[in-house]
Amino acid sequence: MQIIAHRGASGEYPENTLLAFRQALAQGADAIELDVFAVEGELIVIHDPHLQRTTNGRGSIYQHSLAQLATIDAGAGEPIPLLWQVLQLVQGRCWLNIELKGADTLEPLLKLLQRAERELNYDLNSLLISSFNHKLLAAVKAARPELKTGALTASLPIDNCAFATQLQAYSVHCDAGFIDAALVADAKARQLQLYVYTVDEADDLARLKALGVDGVFTNYPARSRKLLT
Ligand code: G3P
Ligand code: MG
Repeated sequence: MQIIAHRGASGEYPENTLLAFRQALAQGADAIELDVFAVEGELIVIHDPHLQRTTNGRGSIYQHSLAQLATIDAGAGEPIPLLWQVLQLVQGRCWLNIELKGADTLEPLLKLLQRAERELNYDLNSLLISSFNHKLLAAVKAARPELKTGALTASLPIDNCAFATQLQAYSVHCDAGFIDAALVADAKARQLQLYVYTVDEADDLARLKALGVDGVFTNYPARSRKLLT
């Protein structure tokens, strides 16, 4: 079962910061998950559209310029990263799940991936683009069919993973509260990877491993790996 560092090693370090991503790499995570919004056409790495939960800023990210956002402390003196900086850090070291939060992230993403191919020779096969916004995922697939997409759901759909097949997705990302044997079997029958969020506790890790899910998003990559062995 793969260990995906949820917002980096966010149980111990400020979420969605380069510090948390460096620590996830040091802890041997198979992958890193992060969340992005677009500001001035640049993808910034932050989970909420408002600043107050995770930073010393206040108000909406959209009420700030990129230059203003760069001065904000996202914890432990870390800035809000640009996705570009994360690509520079991660390239070749693990796979990366970019979760699109803002509905206006498509064009900035496509532009950034072109730059990553050109300047970093980035292996786009090591990226997985996910979103709860399935229309946005369909647009990603239409623009770059070779990109892997992950269909997020915070519910248990009546027809299990059919929505992900419709999206031509590579994976389904489901809330841990909804995982059952039928969902796992359906994902396997559809040749979809099944990744589950957010899983930090020993009993949940053991249950999901026994059910045969392919990966878990965890805030504690090293501890979760240890609990699984
Ligand atoms: O991508 C898995 C998980 O991160 C989805 O929920 O709210 O943590 O972005 P959230
Ligand atoms: Mg996320």
